[in-house]
Amino acid sequence: MAVVRGKNIDILFSPEQIAERNLGLAAQIAAEPKTDLLVISILKGSFIFAADLLRALHAVGLAPEVEFITLSSYGKGTKSQGVKIIKDIDSEVTGRDILLIDDILESGNTLRFARDLMYERGAKDVSIAVLLDKRSRREGTLNADFVGFECPDYFVVGYGMDVAYAFRELPFVGVVTGDAE
Ligand code: IMP
Ligand code: MG
Repeated sequence: MAVVRGKNIDILFSPEQIAERNLGLAAQIAAEPKTDLLVISILKGSFIFAADLLRALHAVGLAPEVEFITLSSYGKGTKSQGVKIIKDIDSEVTGRDILLIDDILESGNTLRFARDLMYERGAKDVSIAVLLDKRSRREGTLNADFVGFECPDYFVVGYGMDVAYAFRELPFVGVVTGDAE
């Protein structure tokens, strides 16, 4: 347990567990040969995971280009839910292998939007790496090719993920359980 901002936070995945898993993910990713690989980090939530996974990819011999796209979902859980681009990538994707990185796969709407967008732009192949998979929340059939951990159905924070802009800096993934004494 940790106390941050006066809140108790239960640790779900420790820094050590995450670091070890990132190396495993990198090895899995490297096992499928890629040409002209472009890694796209989906902001904001994936920034820490992407930074660590990219260095793990270097450690296994990959040399991708790196891009960032900021996406935002609106109207979650309603009929009018959707995803919009807040800030787009600059790079050309036509004919390229793309690896999308996100923090957490929940309904799948964010990653479906990103994957479809890259295919519309002519990407050759789009694969998906996520740190956490909340399978119980899925809407539709989208799955990630590379999953760090199956995630229980809690709202999680840390390692890039926030609640109301807080807790992104934590080196672990945790769950806020209440006020500290
Ligand atoms: P989806 O579009 O429903 O798959 O939701 C994925 C996005 O929602 C992720 O990229 C996260 O930014 C956010 N998200 C979903 N669950 C959590 C959570 O437990 N903590 C923090 N962010 C979350
Ligand atoms: Mg996100």
